[in-house]
Amino acid sequence: MDETIAPRRWQSSSVLYGCDYNPEQWSRDIWDVDVALMREAGIRLVAINIFGWSTLEPRPGEYDFEGLDAIIELLHANGIAVNLGTGTSSPPAWLTTRNPEILPVLADGTTRWPGGRQAWCPSSPVFRAEAFGLVAKVAERYAAHPGVALWHVSNELGCHNALCYCDVSAAAFRRWLETRYRTIDALNDAWGTSFWSQRYGAWEEILPPRATLSAGNPGQRLDFARFSSDELLDYYRGEADILRAASSAPVTTNFMVTAHIRSQDYWQWASDMDVIANDHYLDSRLPHPTSELSFAADLTRGLAAGEPWMLMESSTGAVSWQPRNLAKAPGQMLRNSLTHVARGADAVCFFQWRASRQGAEKFHSALLPHAGIDSTAWRETLELGAALEAITEVAGSRVDASVALVFSWQSWWATEGDSQPSSDVRYLDEVHAAYEALRASGVTVDVVAPGSDLSGYRVVVVPCLYLVSDDAASSISAFVAAGGTALVTYFSGVTDESDRIRMDPTGATTPGAFSAMLGAWTEEYFPLLPAETRTLSAGSAASRWTEIVRPTTAETVESFVDAAVVGSPAITRNGFGAGVAWYVATALDEPSFATLVARVLAEAGVTGAGDSEFEVVSRSSDAGSWLFAINHSAESRTLDATGTELLTGAVVAGSLTIPAGAVRVVRMTAER
Ligand code: GAL
Repeated sequence: MDETIAPRRWQSSSVLYGCDYNPEQWSRDIWDVDVALMREAGIRLVAINIFGWSTLEPRPGEYDFEGLDAIIELLHANGIAVNLGTGTSSPPAWLTTRNPEILPVLADGTTRWPGGRQAWCPSSPVFRAEAFGLVAKVAERYAAHPGVALWHVSNELGCHNALCYCDVSAAAFRRWLETRYRTIDALNDAWGTSFWSQRYGAWEEILPPRATLSAGNPGQRLDFARFSSDELLDYYRGEADILRAASSAPVTTNFMVTAHIRSQDYWQWASDMDVIANDHYLDSRLPHPTSELSFAADLTRGLAAGEPWMLMESSTGAVSWQPRNLAKAPGQMLRNSLTHVARGADAVCFFQWRASRQGAEKFHSALLPHAGIDSTAWRETLELGAALEAITEVAGSRVDASVALVFSWQSWWATEGDSQPSSDVRYLDEVHAAYEALRASGVTVDVVAPGSDLSGYRVVVVPCLYLVSDDAASSISAFVAAGGTALVTYFSGVTDESDRIRMDPTGATTPGAFSAMLGAWTEEYFPLLPAETRTLSAGSAASRWTEIVRPTTAETVESFVDAAVVGSPAITRNGFGAGVAWYVATALDEPSFATLVARVLAEAGVTGAGDSEFEVVSRSSDAGSWLFAINHSAESRTLDATGTELLTGAVVAGSLTIPAGAVRVVRMTAER
């Protein structure tokens, strides 16, 4: 008897082209048209049954698998692999009608009703029992089907229902707190409940951080955010256990590493996934949507520990959930898609295959638009399929990076709590600003968790890491002591894991987790008003934040020249052990930040290729190395390269020209 279990880690020998498909919306004759067109486009992986529950179980305990059977057979017969949704992402109306207690409740006590999607409380035992029942049925029916290549648990867990404040959630929160703190005294200590008469005498007294008259307790809010992320991870595990017991196909769910969702600490989730899969949509509300795309791809690769990952959803053009939904310009979909591949994706999938005719997302773009096949959008769908086919040999290779950026969801939550020095300090904006400065220097960045092994990098950037554990702070200091270069930006190392200020009441040591490494500490913060700007002593421009920095061993690179902080260092540099630590005590504007980062990188001996509008990234493996060059600008660019360009088939002898708006992927000739 063969008892070996196939490795759970997902590996693809090609770069897959895929999409969500919602055939429930269409008649059977359209299915045939769709599958024929999918084949024409080169679609290899199709996600179905993502929102299937009300179709599969139209009445309690009554199942109808006929439609799902048929579409799985049709796809399989056409050589298209199935990414099978468990169908549980939105409960059917009979369930919310029969058990309204599963509906989510907001901080103000109001219920969120069915009629949209994901209207369920993550802690609800009733919801879990019903959902797990459906998963068991789906697993039992399709586990052995050769067409099922991947299991897709629920959908974007926590997209809408991450935080529920109902009584069931309150009880689950208390259980989570008991596991974390063991004693009520330890909790009181961690939350600082002596302040404002908040001391708890018993677990039953503790509530989720429901709407309050004044600012709430920061420790309670932070732990509720942690609990809520853990609770949905626990839910994921419930579904994944059922699937794994029935099937050896890999199991995953689609993450939301994107600009507007922050509710899951995916560093905690990543190891539960057999493949990391992310949904990414360009956000036109940002100053640099394309830069954010690259950042999100690099962070997704970080979650995958450098292994290839899947882009599970993206859009060919406009979405339908932003205030203004911008279509993509010709060529943009190809650039966006290959940026993900350049940064480690081995699958590029879209929401969705065919644009809906009705429902909440009828204006959302799709691979097959309302306009049909006589359209630019469809021609770009075909073009992308051909491009992915042409570069398919990059599958399995890894991205090369010499710079790391430390990113933390928990610090994000804490930074943006109530009662901070300035509500203008938005964690992701600070991270994006640092990333954009690195991008301007053309370096490829690995985004890593606090506490990661940094020894493989030359430079580590630590933007606004307000809350940091002792271990994570030590790993950065140890990296510098061993010869690395760190660049830390303002409001970093301020609090510990319980959001307590890092200070020594005896005054024996200076405040802040990084003060020894930086050779400087902060005496007082002086945030600025929104319209205020500052010019620093050597001409850098800054806004949002200033502070009084007290150097101990650091040298001052630039100082503040006005107002309360006149003469205080604004940028410092400190030799620490065999390395160097820089500190930026303000929010530099884009050119100044780019100039500083260029200087830090040059001093550390790190060189990049490309700039803010021209991405150059390389992937490599034992089989070779590939250079991706993505030109977002309106002028052509040139680059040193020798090898074969895979999209055009051209031989590249020393120099590669990338026309405006174009992408090139070169299989590099090994240097002798
Ligand atoms: C995602 C979701 C999809 C679809 C898409 C539209 O959040 O998983 O079902 O709604 O957004 O952009």
